[in-house]
Amino acid sequence: MNDQLENEEISRRKFFMKLSLGLAGLSAAVAAVPVISAVLAPLLESKAQKWRTVGKLNDFKINTTNLVTFINADPEPYAGITAKSAAWLRRSSDTNFIAFAANCTHLGCPVRWEKDAHLFMCPCHGGVYYADGSVAAGPPPKPLTRYQVRVFKNEVQIKTAPLPITSIGASKSQPA
Ligand code: FES
Repeated sequence: MNDQLENEEISRRKFFMKLSLGLAGLSAAVAAVPVISAVLAPLLESKAQKWRTVGKLNDFKINTTNLVTFINADPEPYAGITAKSAAWLRRSSDTNFIAFAANCTHLGCPVRWEKDAHLFMCPCHGGVYYADGSVAAGPPPKPLTRYQVRVFKNEVQIKTAPLPITSIGASKSQPA
């Protein structure tokens, strides 16, 4: 009888030991999820690029700079308005276009083109850029990001790209 009680005690102890180990393993796995996600996030980030039409060739007069919008390369189905990006598109000749991201390289505010001053101005902290996108004044750490542009079948297209904005602490790529 004593042997039977002893055996029951041992098997109960074994069961609780296994249960404890199982729960400890599960807790460790749950705790590791955010850490693993943080490590993998940059690797999983979309690098997708696509050409997007922003208008017909004749929609843009030579020596003008226009705001254009386009759908990002791989928007999430729930993205809504955030699936769109904007760029300032300048037509400098019959076939030459330059496109600047509309977001300031300081904290990402939308910059506006001041036609008369020939400058891009950021309303948030007074960032100013020259017409070629380089920094003229204020806190922006680097020039406006450029998009690739092409004319394809009489349409002007911009190549979408993830923007390296909000680069606080990044070293300045432009002389002050
Ligand atoms: S966001 Fe443009 S200057 Fe700060």
